[in-house]
Amino acid sequence: MTLATLAAERSLGFDVARVRADFPCLQQTIHGRPLVFLDTAASAQKPRPVIDELARMLREDYANIHRGIYDLSQRATDRHEAAREKVRGLLNAAEACEIVFTRNATEGINLVAQSFVRPRVRQGDQVLITAMEHHANIVPWQLLGAQCGLELVVAPINDAGELLLDEFEALLSPRTKLVSLAWVSNALGTVNPVEDVIELAHDRGIPVLLDAAQAVQHLPVDVRALDCEFLVFSGHKLYGPSGIGALYGKADLLAAMPPYQGGGEMISSVSFAGTEFNDIPYKFEAGTPAIEAAVALGTAIDYVQALGLADIAAHEAALLAYATRALQQVPGLQIVGTARHKCSVLSFVMDQAHPQDIGTLLDLDGIAVRTGQHCAQPAIERLGHSATARASLGLYNTQDDIDALVASLRRIAAMF
Ligand SMILES: Cc1ncc(COP(=O)(O)O)c(C=O)c1O
Repeated sequence: MTLATLAAERSLGFDVARVRADFPCLQQTIHGRPLVFLDTAASAQKPRPVIDELARMLREDYANIHRGIYDLSQRATDRHEAAREKVRGLLNAAEACEIVFTRNATEGINLVAQSFVRPRVRQGDQVLITAMEHHANIVPWQLLGAQCGLELVVAPINDAGELLLDEFEALLSPRTKLVSLAWVSNALGTVNPVEDVIELAHDRGIPVLLDAAQAVQHLPVDVRALDCEFLVFSGHKLYGPSGIGALYGKADLLAAMPPYQGGGEMISSVSFAGTEFNDIPYKFEAGTPAIEAAVALGTAIDYVQALGLADIAAHEAALLAYATRALQQVPGLQIVGTARHKCSVLSFVMDQAHPQDIGTLLDLDGIAVRTGQHCAQPAIERLGHSATARASLGLYNTQDDIDALVASLRRIAAMF
């Protein structure tokens, strides 16, 4: 399906059968069974327009960017910067210079840790996170703890996996240098009340970093309406290539921050006596970037926007409700993470069967789920488990996928 056709058909509603046809990887069999892909939270499959754009970029428009005066380099530069503009549009940022290309969400958080928080920290200052964070939003702060005495403070969650907002508020203090939290938990599926969190933090003059790694592919995002200071995401979870992601930061904050890494591209002039840095966002983009991946991320953004993020969200919400009801009927199965506001993720455990065994047996039926701690060990342990199996939904999943999962889980339940 072309992007133009997609946009034209949007008014006809979300046609998941046609959408699936765009994803070549989904058209295969695994162990003789049609692939049922339920691991989009780890990384999404790629639609044909993204695959084609990646190939076209490498075949026809490839050269290093920002450096050449020759036509090909200028074309590659234009395409790279057009992709930045698409990220700006996706997030509704005010200016393209507020979009820094990174490798992924992880790099975005590390950049904020080292360039925004570290220069402001005095011994005993704090960063406030939640108990449901991905390791990418835990470890960078622990590194800062070792480097400059930053304290990591963790807001608790309840047994359903919901943030306890009153307790969160009570932990905000004059020592809090930043609030950093996942918009959507990758392990539990909880959608955090980020508007409330931002308001509480801003009432005290505390800036907020949103980890939107599990949000941008499921929910419409508007950084100006949210008024968050920073937001990060990864392209590979948004149906784009791996190796590319973005950090949004308010322009005045980015401009005042020191560079994260040094090298080519991030300078305006270099001598052995010293260096003048480039303007934002280039100041934060040292070295040759993932040029073709950025361009193809732009195509992935076109793709989800042509489908409509609100329509994607509605499709996935209906599917999550269907899957939740169906999984609850499987004997001995317990859903881990039962927040009132969830999206995309179903973590579960079963009596007797270890998550590893569940994952292995599902794979024999062609069903791909993730097992373990999902890079969120504290969250899984907080809810009383050492590991879970996790089915996560993308825009291409169907009720048939859920039916296949449930049928297979029923067989596993009977086996143990
Ligand atoms: C909530 C959340 N934050 C951060 C990350 C890190 O993403 P990446 O590995 O692409 O940097 C993930 C990845 O699963 C995630 O789910």
